[in-house]
Amino acid sequence: MWQLASAIAVSAVLVIWLQPKDARKALVPPVQTGAENATATDNSTATASAEAKAPRKGKGSKGPPYPRLPAEERTSARRWTLQELALHDGESRERPLLLAILGEVYDVGPGERFYGPGEGYHVFAGKDASRAFTTGQFNDGAVPGLKGLLPEQISDVISWRSFYQKSDKYRFVGYLVGDYYDEEAQPLRALLELEALQSQTDANQKVIADLRSRFKACNTKSSQDEPHSEIWCDDSYHGQGTRPVFVRAKITELGKEDSWCACLTPEAKAAAREDPKSGSTIIRLSEYPECAGDKQRCFRPKAAGPPP
Ligand code: HEM
Repeated sequence: MWQLASAIAVSAVLVIWLQPKDARKALVPPVQTGAENATATDNSTATASAEAKAPRKGKGSKGPPYPRLPAEERTSARRWTLQELALHDGESRERPLLLAILGEVYDVGPGERFYGPGEGYHVFAGKDASRAFTTGQFNDGAVPGLKGLLPEQISDVISWRSFYQKSDKYRFVGYLVGDYYDEEAQPLRALLELEALQSQTDANQKVIADLRSRFKACNTKSSQDEPHSEIWCDDSYHGQGTRPVFVRAKITELGKEDSWCACLTPEAKAAAREDPKSGSTIIRLSEYPECAGDKQRCFRPKAAGPPP
């Protein structure tokens, strides 16, 4: 009982620790730390239903290990039909245990404690339930299609596919003919569209990461009892001579505007003012009146809005 209680406490700490700051709380695949040592980094998601809690565990192995299939070459991989794949849901120990994600079929025999009958992720066995990899809807949502999902959710599913692709313990064993691949194992439009969307998401994320590294965020401190919040730049982190400035960045391609307090040197400020366009982004800087006089640390009334 104590072991169970402490195991739950440890998992809870693990899950809280791994919660991304992003309010959407993406579900991400476990980090691969070794053949049998996958560590979970799954988190609940705003889009996941109530079913997206840690799935219950079964009692572990209930028989001899599943036979395995050899890994296939991608160029000449076997094609699976839905009916063939359905025979590999783990109910029979005479057949390999398989799952599909975005039309790629994997032998997941060594993961029977996840995917075997009665285990928490058994829903994925013997089918392509790509959608459930992000929604956590393990009943009605155990379907291949991703229509209507947000770009971030599509990224989640693609991350899970990478998890299986990179796994040391699971094997790629072919393509499922249906939603994502045709009989010749050629990608269908649904897959090409997902890949294109993913490339766009990656490009957007790069634009945002570049902006955040060029305009490093100020340090900020605010306590409940104080009427002011504090913003400041640190010579050792932000660079010698940096001062707080309010940055507005309009990312035209994304149709998105973002703003934050950044620490810049006078030269970097001048450069951004002289040439406000950087790729698909337009930058506008505003000085904080509270930082006038070349202050490195300033106190702003909490009620103060962004500088004009
Ligand atoms: C959309 C919801 C979720 C999906 C699709 C999902 C999917 C998965 C999958 C496929 C695995 C097995 C990975 C492998 O083969 O190595 C796994 C493992 C794991 N998941 Fe989730 N998960 C979800 C939600 C959660 C939540 C909410 C929690 C915790 C509260 C959680 C905790 C874990 C843990 C602890 C493991 C590793 C277990 C172990 O190593 O013994 N998962 N998850």
